[in-house]
Amino acid sequence: MTENGAALALDGVSHSYGGGAPALDAVSLVVPRGRFVAVMGRSGSGKSTLLRCAAGLERPTAGTVRIGGTDLATLKSAGLTRLRRDRVGFVFQSLNLVSALNVRENVTLPLLLAGAREGRELDGRALAGLAAVGLADRAEDVPENLSGGQRQRVAIARALVNEPEVVFADEPTAALDPVTAAGVLALLRRAVDERGRTVVLVTHDPVAAAWTDEAVFLESGRMVGRLDRPDEAGVRAALGASAGQHLAVAR
Ligand SMILES: Nc1ncnc2c1ncn2[C@@H]1O[C@H](COP(=O)(O)OP(=O)(O)O)[C@@H](O)[C@H]1O
Ligand SMILES: [Mg+2]
Repeated sequence: MTENGAALALDGVSHSYGGGAPALDAVSLVVPRGRFVAVMGRSGSGKSTLLRCAAGLERPTAGTVRIGGTDLATLKSAGLTRLRRDRVGFVFQSLNLVSALNVRENVTLPLLLAGAREGRELDGRALAGLAAVGLADRAEDVPENLSGGQRQRVAIARALVNEPEVVFADEPTAALDPVTAAGVLALLRRAVDERGRTVVLVTHDPVAAAWTDEAVFLESGRMVGRLDRPDEAGVRAALGASAGQHLAVAR
Protein backbone atom coordinates (compact mmCIF):
# COMPACT_ATOMS: atom_id res chain seq x y z
CA MET A 1 0.00 0.00 0.00
CA THR A 2 1.52 3.31 -1.02
CA GLU A 3 1.09 6.42 1.05
CA ASN A 4 -1.05 7.97 -1.66
CA GLY A 5 -3.60 5.17 -1.66
CA ALA A 6 -3.81 5.09 2.11
CA ALA A 7 -6.71 6.36 4.18
CA LEU A 8 -4.22 7.97 6.54
CA ALA A 9 -0.49 8.58 6.30
CA LEU A 10 1.75 10.23 8.86
CA ASP A 11 5.31 10.98 7.87
CA GLY A 12 7.78 12.15 10.50
CA VAL A 13 5.10 13.82 12.58
CA SER A 14 6.29 15.64 15.71
CA HIS A 15 4.41 17.84 18.11
CA SER A 16 5.49 19.96 21.07
CA TYR A 17 3.03 21.83 23.24
CA GLY A 18 4.25 25.37 23.81
CA GLY A 19 7.78 24.51 22.80
CA GLY A 20 8.25 21.91 25.56
CA ALA A 21 9.64 18.41 25.15
CA PRO A 22 8.06 16.68 22.15
CA ALA A 23 4.78 14.90 22.99
CA LEU A 24 5.12 13.24 19.59
CA ASP A 25 8.51 12.59 18.06
CA ALA A 26 8.95 11.82 14.34
CA VAL A 27 6.12 9.29 14.07
CA SER A 28 5.39 7.68 10.72
CA LEU A 29 2.35 5.49 10.15
CA VAL A 30 0.43 4.38 7.07
CA VAL A 31 -3.11 3.08 7.52
CA PRO A 32 -4.60 1.44 4.41
CA ARG A 33 -8.32 1.73 3.74
CA GLY A 34 -10.45 -0.85 5.49
CA ARG A 35 -8.03 -1.38 8.33
CA PHE A 36 -8.55 -1.24 12.10
CA VAL A 37 -5.46 0.03 13.90
CA ALA A 38 -4.84 0.38 17.62
CA VAL A 39 -2.50 3.07 18.91
CA MET A 40 -1.16 1.85 22.25
CA GLY A 41 1.11 3.03 25.02
CA ARG A 42 0.95 4.05 28.63
CA SER A 43 -0.57 7.29 29.87
CA GLY A 44 1.38 10.29 28.59
CA SER A 45 3.06 8.37 25.75
CA GLY A 46 1.48 10.64 23.13
CA LYS A 47 -1.50 8.59 21.92
CA SER A 48 -4.05 11.41 22.09
CA THR A 49 -1.57 13.84 20.58
CA LEU A 50 -1.06 11.45 17.67
CA LEU A 51 -4.80 11.14 17.18
CA ARG A 52 -5.35 14.90 17.38
CA CYS A 53 -2.61 15.58 14.84
CA ALA A 54 -3.84 12.80 12.54
CA ALA A 55 -7.44 14.04 12.69
CA GLY A 56 -6.65 17.69 12.00
CA LEU A 57 -7.54 18.83 15.53
CA GLU A 58 -3.98 19.94 16.16
CA ARG A 59 -1.37 21.15 13.70
CA PRO A 60 1.85 19.18 14.19
CA THR A 61 5.04 21.17 14.64
CA ALA A 62 6.81 19.00 12.05
CA GLY A 63 6.03 16.29 9.52
CA THR A 64 3.17 15.55 7.15
CA VAL A 65 -0.34 14.19 7.74
CA ARG A 66 -2.39 13.01 4.78
CA ILE A 67 -6.02 11.90 4.86
CA GLY A 68 -7.03 10.22 1.61
CA GLY A 69 -4.05 11.88 -0.07
CA THR A 70 -4.86 15.40 1.17
CA ASP A 71 -1.90 17.00 2.95
CA LEU A 72 -3.55 18.70 5.93
CA ALA A 73 -0.82 21.37 6.01
CA THR A 74 -2.13 22.68 2.68
CA LEU A 75 -5.53 23.44 4.24
CA LYS A 76 -6.35 26.74 5.87
CA SER A 77 -8.40 26.73 9.03
CA ALA A 78 -11.78 26.66 7.22
CA GLY A 79 -10.62 23.84 4.96
CA LEU A 80 -9.46 21.86 7.96
CA THR A 81 -12.85 22.40 9.62
CA ARG A 82 -14.58 21.11 6.47
CA LEU A 83 -12.30 18.08 6.32
CA ARG A 84 -13.07 17.23 9.94
CA ARG A 85 -16.77 17.67 9.30
CA ASP A 86 -17.04 15.81 6.01
CA ARG A 87 -14.25 13.24 5.88
CA VAL A 88 -13.52 12.23 9.45
CA GLY A 89 -15.55 10.71 12.29
CA PHE A 90 -14.81 11.01 16.00
CA VAL A 91 -15.62 9.01 19.10
CA PHE A 92 -14.19 10.14 22.42
CA GLN A 93 -14.14 8.64 25.90
CA SER A 94 -17.12 10.62 27.08
CA LEU A 95 -19.19 13.76 26.49
CA ASN A 96 -19.79 12.70 22.90
CA LEU A 97 -23.43 13.69 22.66
CA VAL A 98 -25.28 16.97 22.73
CA SER A 99 -27.62 16.68 25.71
CA ALA A 100 -30.15 19.18 24.33
CA LEU A 101 -30.78 17.00 21.26
CA ASN A 102 -32.44 13.62 21.13
CA VAL A 103 -30.59 10.53 19.90
CA ARG A 104 -31.78 10.82 16.28
CA GLU A 105 -30.88 14.50 16.16
CA ASN A 106 -27.43 13.77 17.54
CA VAL A 107 -26.82 11.31 14.73
CA THR A 108 -28.05 13.71 12.03
CA LEU A 109 -25.87 16.53 13.34
CA PRO A 110 -22.83 15.87 11.11
CA LEU A 111 -25.11 15.72 8.06
CA LEU A 112 -26.84 18.98 8.99
CA LEU A 113 -23.49 20.67 9.59
CA ALA A 114 -22.39 19.44 6.17
CA GLY A 115 -25.39 21.17 4.61
CA ALA A 116 -28.01 18.41 4.35
CA ARG A 117 -31.65 19.46 4.66
CA GLU A 118 -33.76 18.24 7.51
CA GLY A 119 -36.41 15.79 6.41
CA ARG A 120 -37.35 12.22 5.84
CA GLU A 121 -34.19 11.21 3.98
CA LEU A 122 -31.97 12.61 6.70
CA ASP A 123 -33.98 10.91 9.42
CA GLY A 124 -33.85 7.69 7.41
CA ARG A 125 -30.07 7.75 7.38
CA ALA A 126 -29.96 8.43 11.11
CA LEU A 127 -32.40 5.62 11.83
CA ALA A 128 -30.45 3.19 9.62
CA GLY A 129 -27.31 4.13 11.53
CA LEU A 130 -29.06 3.66 14.84
CA ALA A 131 -30.45 0.31 13.71
CA ALA A 132 -26.90 -0.79 12.86
CA VAL A 133 -25.88 -0.17 16.48
CA GLY A 134 -29.07 -1.74 17.85
CA LEU A 135 -30.69 1.48 19.06
CA ALA A 136 -33.41 2.28 16.53
CA ASP A 137 -35.99 2.11 19.30
CA ARG A 138 -34.22 4.86 21.29
CA ALA A 139 -34.17 7.41 18.46
CA GLU A 140 -36.52 9.87 20.16
CA ASP A 141 -35.02 9.48 23.61
CA VAL A 142 -32.57 11.97 25.12
CA PRO A 143 -28.95 10.92 25.84
CA GLU A 144 -29.51 11.40 29.57
CA ASN A 145 -31.81 8.35 29.57
CA LEU A 146 -29.22 6.06 27.98
CA SER A 147 -26.50 4.00 29.64
CA GLY A 148 -22.83 4.77 29.02
CA GLY A 149 -22.55 1.92 26.54
CA GLN A 150 -25.68 3.00 24.67
CA ARG A 151 -24.33 6.55 24.44
CA GLN A 152 -21.09 5.26 22.94
CA ARG A 153 -23.11 3.26 20.40
CA VAL A 154 -24.96 6.45 19.44
CA ALA A 155 -21.59 8.20 19.18
CA ILE A 156 -20.42 5.46 16.80
CA ALA A 157 -23.58 5.79 14.70
CA ARG A 158 -22.91 9.51 14.50
CA ALA A 159 -19.23 9.05 13.65
CA LEU A 160 -20.20 6.72 10.76
CA VAL A 161 -23.19 8.62 9.36
CA ASN A 162 -21.06 10.73 6.98
CA GLU A 163 -19.27 7.63 5.66
CA PRO A 164 -15.97 9.15 6.76
CA GLU A 165 -12.62 8.19 5.29
CA VAL A 166 -11.22 7.65 8.77
CA VAL A 167 -12.91 7.17 12.14
CA PHE A 168 -10.79 8.26 15.10
CA ALA A 169 -11.69 6.87 18.50
CA ASP A 170 -9.81 7.95 21.64
CA GLU A 171 -10.29 5.50 24.52
CA PRO A 172 -13.98 5.01 23.63
CA THR A 173 -14.33 2.08 26.02
CA ALA A 174 -12.29 3.40 28.95
CA ALA A 175 -15.38 4.28 31.00
CA LEU A 176 -17.29 1.06 30.20
CA ASP A 177 -17.46 -2.34 31.86
CA PRO A 178 -15.80 -5.19 29.89
CA VAL A 179 -19.00 -6.64 28.41
CA THR A 180 -20.30 -3.25 27.29
CA ALA A 181 -16.85 -2.37 25.96
CA ALA A 182 -16.80 -5.55 23.88
CA GLY A 183 -20.13 -4.53 22.33
CA VAL A 184 -18.72 -1.15 21.34
CA LEU A 185 -15.53 -2.67 19.91
CA ALA A 186 -17.58 -5.21 17.97
CA LEU A 187 -19.41 -2.32 16.31
CA LEU A 188 -16.16 -0.70 15.22
CA ARG A 189 -14.95 -4.09 13.96
CA ARG A 190 -18.15 -4.50 11.93
CA ALA A 191 -17.81 -1.02 10.43
CA VAL A 192 -14.43 -2.13 9.10
CA ASP A 193 -15.44 -5.63 7.98
CA GLU A 194 -18.87 -4.93 6.56
CA ARG A 195 -18.62 -1.32 5.43
CA GLY A 196 -14.93 -0.99 4.59
CA ARG A 197 -14.37 1.84 7.05
CA THR A 198 -10.93 2.70 8.39
CA VAL A 199 -10.65 3.03 12.17
CA VAL A 200 -7.82 4.35 14.36
CA LEU A 201 -8.43 3.37 17.97
CA VAL A 202 -6.41 4.88 20.81
CA THR A 203 -6.37 2.55 23.79
CA HIS A 204 -4.16 1.41 26.62
CA ASP A 205 -6.19 -1.82 26.94
CA PRO A 206 -4.74 -5.06 25.47
CA VAL A 207 -8.24 -6.58 25.34
CA ALA A 208 -9.42 -3.70 23.13
CA ALA A 209 -6.34 -3.93 20.92
CA ALA A 210 -7.09 -7.60 20.25
CA TRP A 211 -10.12 -6.50 18.19
CA THR A 212 -7.88 -4.71 15.70
CA ASP A 213 -5.79 -5.69 12.67
CA GLU A 214 -2.63 -3.98 13.83
CA ALA A 215 -1.33 -2.42 17.01
CA VAL A 216 1.36 0.25 17.08
CA PHE A 217 3.16 1.19 20.27
CA LEU A 218 4.20 4.61 21.49
CA GLU A 219 6.63 5.43 24.23
CA SER A 220 7.62 8.99 25.11
CA GLY A 221 6.11 10.15 21.82
CA ARG A 222 8.10 7.72 19.72
CA MET A 223 6.86 4.74 17.75
CA VAL A 224 8.63 1.80 19.32
CA GLY A 225 6.98 -1.16 17.67
CA ARG A 226 4.02 -2.74 15.93
CA LEU A 227 2.15 -6.03 15.92
CA ASP A 228 0.05 -7.56 13.16
CA ARG A 229 -3.17 -9.31 14.21
CA PRO A 230 -2.51 -8.56 17.87
CA ASP A 231 -3.81 -10.89 20.54
CA GLU A 232 -4.08 -9.99 24.19
CA ALA A 233 -0.99 -11.90 25.29
CA GLY A 234 1.13 -10.53 22.46
CA VAL A 235 0.06 -6.99 23.25
CA ARG A 236 0.81 -7.41 26.94
CA ALA A 237 4.26 -8.75 26.08
CA ALA A 238 4.89 -5.88 23.68
CA LEU A 239 3.76 -3.30 26.23
CA GLY A 240 6.04 -4.88 28.83
CA ALA A 241 8.96 -4.91 26.43
CA SER A 242 8.43 -1.32 25.36
CA ALA A 243 8.45 -0.18 28.98
CA GLY A 244 12.13 -1.02 29.31
CA GLN A 245 13.64 -1.15 25.87
CA HIS A 246 12.49 -0.60 22.34
CA LEU A 247 11.04 -3.61 20.57
CA ALA A 248 13.08 -5.43 18.00
CA VAL A 249 10.50 -4.43 15.40
CA ALA A 250 10.97 -0.71 16.05
CA ARG A 251 11.48 1.20 12.84
N1 LIG B 1 -2.72 20.51 25.84
C1 LIG B 1 -1.52 20.15 26.31
N2 LIG B 1 -0.63 21.07 26.75
C2 LIG B 1 0.58 20.71 27.22
N3 LIG B 1 1.02 19.44 27.28
C3 LIG B 1 0.18 18.48 26.87
C4 LIG B 1 -1.13 18.76 26.36
N4 LIG B 1 -1.72 17.60 26.00
C5 LIG B 1 -0.83 16.63 26.29
N5 LIG B 1 0.31 17.14 26.79
C6 LIG B 1 1.51 16.38 27.19
O1 LIG B 1 1.95 15.64 26.07
C7 LIG B 1 2.37 14.33 26.44
C8 LIG B 1 1.52 13.30 25.70
O2 LIG B 1 0.17 13.41 26.15
P1 LIG B 1 -1.04 12.62 25.47
O3 LIG B 1 -0.89 12.69 24.00
O4 LIG B 1 -2.29 13.12 26.06
O5 LIG B 1 -0.72 11.11 25.94
P2 LIG B 1 -1.70 9.86 26.11
O6 LIG B 1 -2.94 10.10 25.32
O7 LIG B 1 -0.88 8.70 25.61
O8 LIG B 1 -1.97 9.73 27.58
C9 LIG B 1 2.23 14.27 27.96
O9 LIG B 1 3.48 14.57 28.51
C10 LIG B 1 1.21 15.34 28.26
O10 LIG B 1 1.41 15.87 29.54
MG1 LIG C 1 -4.94 10.17 25.85
